[in-house]
Amino acid sequence: MKAKIAVLPGDGIGPEVVAEGLRVLRAIEQRYGHGFELESFAFGGAAIDAHGDGLPPHTLAACLAADGILLGAIGGPKWGPTAAVRPEPALLRLRAELGVYANLRPITVMPALRDASSLKPEVVDGVDMLFVRELTGGIYFGRKSREGDRATDECAYTVAEVERITRVAGRLARARRRKITQVDKSNVLETSRLWRAVSERVVRDEFPDCSIEHMFVDAASMHLIRRPKDFDVVLTENLFGDILTDEASMLAGSLGVLPSAALGDGRRGLYEPIHGSAPDIAGRGIANPCGTILSAALLLRHSLGLEAEALAIEHAVSAAIEAGARTADVAAGGATLSTRAMGDAVLEKLGA
Ligand code: IPM
Ligand code: MN
Repeated sequence: MKAKIAVLPGDGIGPEVVAEGLRVLRAIEQRYGHGFELESFAFGGAAIDAHGDGLPPHTLAACLAADGILLGAIGGPKWGPTAAVRPEPALLRLRAELGVYANLRPITVMPALRDASSLKPEVVDGVDMLFVRELTGGIYFGRKSREGDRATDECAYTVAEVERITRVAGRLARARRRKITQVDKSNVLETSRLWRAVSERVVRDEFPDCSIEHMFVDAASMHLIRRPKDFDVVLTENLFGDILTDEASMLAGSLGVLPSAALGDGRRGLYEPIHGSAPDIAGRGIANPCGTILSAALLLRHSLGLEAEALAIEHAVSAAIEAGARTADVAAGGATLSTRAMGDAVLEKLGA
């Protein structure tokens, strides 16, 4: 098949991990006889430096014209909270422009990495949960103001926004254990009371074969590390999803191995590892490329419908890790591979 993939390497370790993702996509293209048009565009801090804009018009146009977008990471100390132009708003704008309101963040524990987690192996063994984080609404996109000694961030959600994200969670739950945990702070927040009522109704009326439970976000943050195996699909708003997925990522041993997908109503999606730009290790060739490689697999699955190819990549990553291939973040004292060598290990399994 022919497909157009826009590539946004971004900042910090972004370009290093994306390079490995691209090598894997090229290998898939060859092996399965596809034609992938892979073109890189300036985005994030790198784009601010080069063009004065974190999301230059030509980058946005290329993303809107693509079937899928592979993103590395953005941000860094150079463009900190007090900088005149920051990369983060560019990412929020890209998500909004693409209409990718559903952020899928799967958290699974590979048996070979059970000892890399900061939790006891018996707590993390068999963890398999999927976060469905609302991505284009809530406090991230509300009105912000700063007047004198007072600052505000408005959090708003509409019924339609909660309905559509609940439907995404329902469809995904059907392919899993059919259990949805909706996380909010409805004992305090009005938006949370809307979330609770709307998600309850959508699941009852449209997904009667699925169950939905509701949990306060403070309790959820505790249960996630106390009994993570009990979670299947976790449905939540933008800010809570941001925080809880970083927490849950520690179950898997490292942020470095986790992919994510951001989807809207069409097939086009934005795919990125859930880790950040890690400026402390950027440029040293030691970052873990697996989160990006697995994000490329999600792109093949969700945007191009290439399930066999996606599975081939996922199996190759697992096989490489099971065979002992480890970057520094998950090495636990053993031998460590560079970013490139980890990519080689995955490519080798892909060919095998
Ligand atoms: C993430 C990141 C972003 C977010 C930042 C970079 C704006 O933390 O994708 O989780 O908060 O959504
Ligand atoms: Mn985050």
